Parts: sequence; C-alpha cells; structure tokens
Amino acid sequence: KAIFLGGMSGKRAVVPFQAAGLRIAAKQQLSARAWAYIDGGAGDETSIAANAAAFSDISILPRMMGGEGPADFSTRLLNTDLAFPLLLAPIGVLDLICPEADRVVARACRNVGIPMIFSNQAGTPMETCAQDLGDTSRWFQLYWSKSDDLVLSFIQRAEACGCSAIVLTVDTTLLGWRSRDLALGYLPFLRGMGIAQYTSDPVFQALLNQGAGAAITGAPKPTVTLQTIANLLQLKANYPGGFFHNLFRKTPLEAVRLFINIYSNPALSWEQVIWLRQQTKLPILIKGILRADDALKAMDAGADGIVVSNHGGRQVDGAISSLPALKTIRQTLPKPFPIVLDSGIRSGSDVFKALALGADAVLLGRPYAYGLAVGGQRGVEEVILNMLNDFELTAQLAGCRNIQEIDGSMVG
Ligand code: FNR
Repeated sequence: KAIFLGGMSGKRAVVPFQAAGLRIAAKQQLSARAWAYIDGGAGDETSIAANAAAFSDISILPRMMGGEGPADFSTRLLNTDLAFPLLLAPIGVLDLICPEADRVVARACRNVGIPMIFSNQAGTPMETCAQDLGDTSRWFQLYWSKSDDLVLSFIQRAEACGCSAIVLTVDTTLLGWRSRDLALGYLPFLRGMGIAQYTSDPVFQALLNQGAGAAITGAPKPTVTLQTIANLLQLKANYPGGFFHNLFRKTPLEAVRLFINIYSNPALSWEQVIWLRQQTKLPILIKGILRADDALKAMDAGADGIVVSNHGGRQVDGAISSLPALKTIRQTLPKPFPIVLDSGIRSGSDVFKALALGADAVLLGRPYAYGLAVGGQRGVEEVILNMLNDFELTAQLAGCRNIQEIDGSMVG
C-alpha cells in the first residue's frame, strides 16, 4: 500500500484513501444487514445524496502568497480543547461491525487525540469506553427516553465518567423510514444490540424488575404510530415461525422489549431542555437542528450550542442538507454561539468548507465506521489521520494558518 508522510505535520505515516474507495472496501467486509444499517438512510436516500452534493456545490477560493508561519488549527469548543476542529459523531450499534467496537473506537481516539461522543445506543457501557479513552475528551449523546429518571441517570453517569458535554439528539424521537432495513426485516435492537447503556443502568434495571408495563406508566401518548406498526408487520412477514413470539417470550429479552418501549419520547419538547439545563452543569448541545427558528429556540431554552445535522440522511428523506442549513442558521446566530456540523463530511476540504460557512467544528460519521470495518482500530486511526492531514494541507494551501482565518471569504 502506498504510504505518504502525514501531511505537513509529518507526525505519522498514513495510508491514504478516498471516500468512495473506503466505502466500497467497508461494504466487502460486512454482512448485508450490517451494511444496510450503517450505510443506509431514510426513504429513497435523496438526503444522503444531497449531503454529498451540498459540499460539491461550494468551492474553496484559495488565497495565494499570504506569507508563511506556523499552522495551528487547535480551538476550544465550550469547555473542550481540540487539537483539530473535529470530533467523532455518536454512532450506535457499532457492534454490528466487530465485537467490542466502541472500545476499539475509544482506543483509536486515544491514540490520535480526537474526542469521542458516546452514543446512547452503544454496545458497550460508557464507563468502559471512558477507561479506554484515558485522558482523551469525551461527550455523551442522549436520546430522551420515556423515563425522566433514566435520563437523569444517564446524565449522572456521563458526569461521573468525565464527559465534558451532553449532546441531546432531537431528530430521532421515532426511527426514520429506513427502506433497506425494512426490506431485510432487520432492526439490530431487536437482537439486543446497541442497548448496553440501558442494560448497564441501575434505573433501567429497576424498571426492568418492575416490568415494562410499569416502566411506561404515565408515558406521553401516542407511543405507537402507523409507521411503527408498518415496521413491525414488515418484520413479522420476514420472520415466519413465531420469531416475535419467541423473542418476547424469553425473559433475557425482556430488556430488549423494555428498551423498545421506553427508548424514545415522541412528546419531547423544549420544556424538557429547560428542565435538563437545571439538572447538570455540563454544556448541552442540541443535535439535529436544521432551521433557524429551532436554533433560536434551542438557545432560548438554555442550550450552549447546536449540532446542525440531518442525521446523515437517516431520518427525514428530502430534508435540507446541513451545509445550506448552516449558512442560514449562522446568519441568525452569529459567532460566538457554538455550532457544530455533521452529515456528509468525507474529506479535509469538506471540513474546511464547513468551517468557512460558520461551523466551529465538525463531527465525522460513517467514514470512521467504514475504517473500523476495513482495519479495526488501525483503520479508525487511519481514517481520522487522513482527514486531519488532508484538512491541514488544504487549509494551508488555501492560505489559512488557523481556524479564525477560515472565514466566509474563503468559499464561493
Ligand atoms: C448514526 N447517528 C447517530 N446519532 C446520534 O445522535 N446517536 C446515535 O446513536 C446515532 N447512531 C447512528 C448510527 C449509524 C449507523 C449512523 C450512520 C449514524 C448519526 C451520526 O451521529 C451523524 O449525525 C451522521 O452519521 C452524520 O452523517 P454522515 O457524515 O455519517 O453521513
């Protein structure tokens, strides 16, 4: 394999890749179901395509001969120091890719010094990953469950294992219409994957002992939608022979059933953000914002920042891409209000474009999962290092030596 020295930094040799090739290499390593879940999106996947197109539509305007000087793209976001304006996006059910996947990713983050955001749907409890991370920064991503006690427990655990921010994801109060998963009749949660944050939680265990019925007492209605029923019917059709009957009869899988009953709260409102603001001193970012009026509501509710994201095109097919959304939102909420962006970051120049349009940092999503599939821990490290070196070179060649210089004048 070709090796080149790690960009201008020269810190490390990396195996170069291009996003498309990495994706194909990952597909070859994964089962059809794992691939559908990780790579797929909502509906006809028009938002996935739009995410890529939005980056292509923006051009960098490199500035020549601006003089030389040391490059430093470090920054401070809320209370977290970043060597580069990049963190790993929370990705649930990574254990579809390999055993102990969250731990492998945590070790990779530690080696390259990039923060990890623990998913609420991880296959390993956050406490374990926190140990694997050593001193590397970590945030916790929360899905609001139907039990506020469980929400509080998650927050307290995140505080106890050194998380320096809470990312509340608000775009997944229901699971999107994931055509590929539906066609395969596959939902990893039904196999007990991606529920380790729950099963390791004392409040969840208490709810389990009370039984799922008690757990959802007082839950906002409606909890079942036409979509849920359609999902279940499709799954049932794909599993003749009493799959559901067996699944729900077995007591060890009671936890799965409880999880499905309480994992999300379709009645989530801004009031709960105000409440959450009073429960923790940690900064709170709201993830999944695509409209300027919602961004303002997030700020008014006491959020410390937002993540402009369409969840990688997995929720609302046809939703606006995060890059044009960022442009509008940044006009409404000028700096220094912290805005992070994800959905479609595939290269160093994508990072540059997002910063130029007003993001303070970006989240890297699917590419690191692909790296994990292709090369385990080393694969994740290589993907991150590629991204950072590519970004560093791109920025310097465009005439920028720090992230303040990457402003709106740098793109057109
Ligand atoms: C996600 N994402 C996600 N987001 C979140 O807040 N909690 C989660 O548990 C997950 N799980 C998850 C699983 C998988 C397989 C994917 C691909 C994505 C969304 C993620 O944080 C991020 O917003 C997107 O991945 C960004 O899009 P790209 O760049 O990956 O296309």
